[in-house]
Amino acid sequence: MAKGFFISKTLGIVGIVIGAGAVATIIALSVVYSQEKSQNNELKPTSEWTTTKAPTVPTTAPSNEPWDQWRLPQTLEPEWYNVLLWPKLKPDPTTGLYTFSGSSSVVFKCVQETDLILIHSNKLNMTKHPTLTAHGSTPAPPFKSYRMETKTQYLVIHLEGKLTVGEKYELHTEFMGELADDLGGFYRSEYFENGQKKVVATTQMQPTDARKAFPCFDEPAMKAVFNITLLHEHGTTALSNGKEIEIVDTVVDGVSVTKTVFESTEKMSTYLLAFIVSDFGVIERNEVPQIRIFARKDAITSGQGDYALNVTGPILRFFEKYYNSTYPLPKSDQIALPDFSAGAMENWGLITYRETALLYDEESSSNGNKERIATIIAHELAHQWFGNLVTLRWWNDLWLNEGFASYVEYLGADNAEPAWKIKDLIVLNDVHRVFAIDALASSHPLSSKEEEVQRPEQISELFDAISYSKGASVLRMLSDFLTEPVFTQGLQTYLKHFEFDNTVYTDLWDNLQMAVDNTGTPLPKPVREIMDRWVLQMGFPVVTINTKTGEISQKHFLLDPESVVERPSDFNYEWYVPIKWVKNGMTNNPIWLLEKTIIREEMKSNANEWILANIDVVGYYRVNYDQDNWNRLLNALKTSKNSIPIINRAQIIDDAFNLAKARMVNITLALQTTEYLSSETEYMPWEAALDNMDYFYLMFDRTEVYGPMQAYVGKLVKPLFEHFTTLTNWTDVAEGHTDQYNQVNALRVACSTGLESCTSLVKTWFQQWMKNPSVNPIKPNLRSAVYCSAIAAGGAQEWDFAWNMFKSASLASEADKLRAALACATKPWLLNRYLEYTLDPDKIRKQDATATIINIASNVIGQSLAWDFVRANWAYIFNQYGGGSFSFANLINGVTKRFSTEYELQQLKQFREDNSNIGFGSGTLAIEQSIERTTANIEWVKQNKEVVLKWFMDAAKTL
Ligand SMILES: *[C@@H]1O[C@H](CO)[C@@H](O)[C@H](O)[C@H]1NC(C)=O
Ligand SMILES: *[C@@H]1O[C@H](CO)[C@@H](O)[C@H](O)[C@H]1NC(C)=O
Ligand SMILES: *[C@@H]1O[C@H](CO)[C@@H](O)[C@H](O)[C@H]1NC(C)=O
Ligand SMILES: *[C@@H]1O[C@H](CO)[C@@H](O)[C@H](O)[C@H]1NC(C)=O
Ligand SMILES: [Zn+2]
Repeated sequence: MAKGFFISKTLGIVGIVIGAGAVATIIALSVVYSQEKSQNNELKPTSEWTTTKAPTVPTTAPSNEPWDQWRLPQTLEPEWYNVLLWPKLKPDPTTGLYTFSGSSSVVFKCVQETDLILIHSNKLNMTKHPTLTAHGSTPAPPFKSYRMETKTQYLVIHLEGKLTVGEKYELHTEFMGELADDLGGFYRSEYFENGQKKVVATTQMQPTDARKAFPCFDEPAMKAVFNITLLHEHGTTALSNGKEIEIVDTVVDGVSVTKTVFESTEKMSTYLLAFIVSDFGVIERNEVPQIRIFARKDAITSGQGDYALNVTGPILRFFEKYYNSTYPLPKSDQIALPDFSAGAMENWGLITYRETALLYDEESSSNGNKERIATIIAHELAHQWFGNLVTLRWWNDLWLNEGFASYVEYLGADNAEPAWKIKDLIVLNDVHRVFAIDALASSHPLSSKEEEVQRPEQISELFDAISYSKGASVLRMLSDFLTEPVFTQGLQTYLKHFEFDNTVYTDLWDNLQMAVDNTGTPLPKPVREIMDRWVLQMGFPVVTINTKTGEISQKHFLLDPESVVERPSDFNYEWYVPIKWVKNGMTNNPIWLLEKTIIREEMKSNANEWILANIDVVGYYRVNYDQDNWNRLLNALKTSKNSIPIINRAQIIDDAFNLAKARMVNITLALQTTEYLSSETEYMPWEAALDNMDYFYLMFDRTEVYGPMQAYVGKLVKPLFEHFTTLTNWTDVAEGHTDQYNQVNALRVACSTGLESCTSLVKTWFQQWMKNPSVNPIKPNLRSAVYCSAIAAGGAQEWDFAWNMFKSASLASEADKLRAALACATKPWLLNRYLEYTLDPDKIRKQDATATIINIASNVIGQSLAWDFVRANWAYIFNQYGGGSFSFANLINGVTKRFSTEYELQQLKQFREDNSNIGFGSGTLAIEQSIERTTANIEWVKQNKEVVLKWFMDAAKTL
């Protein structure tokens, strides 16, 4: 799928300023801004997952009956489906329920003798007795009985006799289901247009909800061809994976309706199906394939689909070349839905998106919104081959599907927008981001065992940062050490060989190995052996280089050095590590670290030579050095920063902070890496520093460290603010894409540290807007930061104004900026009222509820209110917001991430105990991780508070 949740990675940034004389005029932080930078990573879930801990329900069903198993028996194989569905866009007058009715015939082959038919079906009511007919000469055995097995979600049919191996049968069912607003299976989305309520029927099948739309063999390897027909109200449009081939008026059950018949699909998996009925508008390009963008009529007429239409063709053609494979379908539809739980979904030929992931407005969208759209489109288009044409056999290999798309989305977006230099940003968005999670003892390997991923919740839990971001990082490393031509060649033969079929991840390794053998320079080990170490064991190494002795060694990097790794590894937590490195800026031959320790003469350096390893952070590991080399690197940053690649300036900061957390270097060394920023204007190092400072704010924004820290950060950012003042006078936007991001950083941080020239600017803009709401004078890029600052400094009047603008926004990304900024309020009653709104779908859409609660928790004043709110409402949240979403882990991690006291730890444990009867669903592991994290935070604060306080006090004086 396309990424889970709308969660920004830097939600925690800078708390709201109060006390310390800072006055509330000080406009705060922008919790929100991170969403603005929009790297699509904000979509990715941050939960972690492990296969050995914490399932709430036993993995194996208590009995051995086939219908108690979560996996289908290997007895029947579907070939064809004929599906007819009729979603009703008005509620049933007697029950008040929105429903759909349908019928389905599936032709399957019997491959093992059986008298039992198990076919997935969830929350469907059969409206007629199912029937079975034989396609061959022997008649089908009659039914003994049929029933629904609700737990394992099967329609169970017992037959009087056996089915014959090799024969084909056709099972016909007629059924009814609810078209609920639960964001899963066949569901409904609602919006208002010209004061009128509109209903859209749409689907989200991945991973296991096709069975909520019609009875089907709902496993990815059960590929079949689908004939789809939709019945719908006159005047509405029906869409599905195939092209419409017939649209006629007809009468069904006495009702006059339109019938749309779709071209047969290719052989495909059920989770990639999509059915949509709407009265949306459309724009299209009649090229081959045909490209269409659908959205609310207002959105289309105001041009919000134009950018997507512009970039889709070029990205599609880029991937055709990259994969050396023609786009397999005659059309590519993309549609923006008002309610959608993930970021987007790669349904074959009919990709569904959240509005913010597809719709762009020249006047009001930021460059971050634009980047997000380009990368998500690229991600979904990449799946049309990798995932859709060739599909992993089972969900345990999800990481390869999602990791791959998360890697090549950068290549696709780069092709569409070469000026952005977006490929570099994978280091911030994915590599650094997932390092933080993968360095925990409770992390998990990329690959899981098939038998450990059975139940729908277990499958859902796999959609996490490890699968997406570590998957992407490791594949990027692989592509780099193979070289891109070798990587793409192996990829191309893999796709060719397995088209319309299923694979396991080692099939890709085998094809890459063939490419190496054919054309590549030899590797020190086979592809598979190298990759086993990255895929089968969790975590990653820290490589330590001693420039005095030339010793290079590796060690499993753990953020908390006291944590205990319980998970065994066949490889002893050692990796085969490719090391690209430079000495004083001069490139040297890469080195492979294949053992725990090696000695290399060339890694020795004299007193004025610095060594820097993991150039451009293509390797998935951190690097540590002897103190002398660190000092030389610090010096190089200050005196000749341009001799260090921009990505590595960010790396030095991020590695130093994390090594300090792991107690491998002094915290003061980490803080020293930020000193040179007073002369840095590049985005990546600034962003790395601010990300790491976030943690300091989370831990210290309620303590006496806060004042001196603010003073230091304020001094650091002032030159950057002045740089952009000179460059743009704040009436313009900076030229480059990442410069625009850093311009926002400058404003956000300068304002949050109380720089008068910044706060007055922001206040003026917002007041101007309040005076004349129809003309927004704030530059789109700056809006998130400005809104947040103004709402933090303001009261009910500002809040209510922003709320009204939120409710009336016609552009989803504008609404989103306001929604997040509303959480920046500093009055507890405003925040409490806002928390109440999050559980009222008329006020905050269900898709945004957890993100909003997390936004509030990121505000230092909102933190405890959000925690109280979640505790008080857990049962309700769990039941109402459980289906169709993967957000519980994010919610729990989000509301607890500032926890750093014994008292908070006790509360967390109490919460776990109090709700053990209700459960935590996909957030089960997040509870354990929050406890682990809180424990580590308590220790970290204890160890570092004094020295950090002193360092900030001194540095603020000398800088
Ligand atoms: C299916 O049947 C159950 C039990 O009779 C009922 O509660 C539910 O509303 C029905 N669903 C639909 C969509 O009619
Ligand atoms: C599906 O539709 C095609 C024509 O579009 C038809 O040839 C085929 O028989 C149909 N399949 C089934 C199972 O009815
Ligand atoms: C789409 O492309 C057209 C033609 O190149 C261009 O004029 C227009 O500005 C583009 N629209 C967007 C939103 O990028
Ligand atoms: C692309 O595929 C074609 C046909 O399958 C093949 O002849 C050609 O060599 C391939 N090109 C590359 C670059 O692999
Ligand atoms: Zn995806």
